[in-house]
Amino acid sequence: MINSQLTKSKNRIFSGIQPTGNLHLGNYLGAIKNWVNLQSDIFSIFSIVDLHAITVPQKPSELKSSTHEVTAAIIASGIDPKNSIVFNQSSVKEHAELAWIFNCVCRIGWLNRMTQFKEKAGKNRENATVGLYGYPVLMAADILLYKATHVPVGEDQKQHIELARDIASSFNNMFSNDNDKDFFTLPEPQIFGQATRVMSLRDGTKKMSKSDSSDASRINLTDTKEEIAYKIKKAKTDPYPLPETIKDLNERPEALNLLNIYASLSNQTIDQTLSQFSGKGFSSFKPELIDLAIETLNPISSEMRKLLDNTAEIEKILRDGADNARKIAKPVLKHVKELIGFVI
Ligand code: AMP
Ligand code: TRP
Repeated sequence: MINSQLTKSKNRIFSGIQPTGNLHLGNYLGAIKNWVNLQSDIFSIFSIVDLHAITVPQKPSELKSSTHEVTAAIIASGIDPKNSIVFNQSSVKEHAELAWIFNCVCRIGWLNRMTQFKEKAGKNRENATVGLYGYPVLMAADILLYKATHVPVGEDQKQHIELARDIASSFNNMFSNDNDKDFFTLPEPQIFGQATRVMSLRDGTKKMSKSDSSDASRINLTDTKEEIAYKIKKAKTDPYPLPETIKDLNERPEALNLLNIYASLSNQTIDQTLSQFSGKGFSSFKPELIDLAIETLNPISSEMRKLLDNTAEIEKILRDGADNARKIAKPVLKHVKELIGFVI
């Protein structure tokens, strides 16, 4: 199946997720759920991006178990590794090689604009790794190595995909020739669904994040029913009933976030969710949200646990995926080297 898809389809999806603990509802609603819905229509490649993970310090044993866990989460959510490619990035060395070439295309000024680097490096920027600074260049290499046309991600990755487009057009201007006009396709970000930016349950102005020190700020995909119920019960709200229109949520970030989560989990628009709950208080809305979150996440976490009982099988899926990924990546990189003028 995969072999015929490799050559046939023009549209191609690539997306990645870092193997760094605490996969949460934001990862699921902003990215993984969309991957699951897209995989049957467009040939898809999903990578556990371990080279990205080491841009900040990682403990070796935890990196390995997080790689297993994230692979299990993707499969438990419904990604079929027989139809899509699932692999870990470091197993396909072409990513690092193309990233170096792109380092010589990307301008320092472009990277200086990246807001995620500023957030992640924080005040101690001098001490951040060169890898963290160059992270978006590696991400561009991930996408363009497969000539992906579509990149489904959460809102926070939009700027990085714009950079990948800039790198692609710059490479095309520098190196394409008459036989290879526009060598790289410019990839389109796919940011959709009702929850493209899921916010912290403790502060509706902050993104739900793997690295937030408060576990109560996020719903992890591995949380038990009791933990999900407790975290939603304790989620920050305000004293007002739910309004009729989305405009009235402008100054109510926590209410907007919980409504977006409900809408996304139930595949509704926010307007449909508002018409279901307008006039009601959080005391009647929260129990419904708890039921819905448990109904969605509990089957995923039990399937994840089952898959994690057999890590040899998970590693086999990743190895097979890497073999298939390499079949696409190798000829693209070879072509890039020819265009640059390397002796190969
Ligand atoms: P990461 O965990 O940073 O590797 O992110 C994996 C995917 O989840 C990316 O597509 C992100 O855009 C998406 N994502 C991460 N956090 C959130 C969030 N709070 N809301 C929506 N999407 C998110
Ligand atoms: N940078 C992305 C994140 O932190 C993960 C990622 C790496 C990615 N390479 C990618 C996403 C390529 C989409 C395409 O979420």
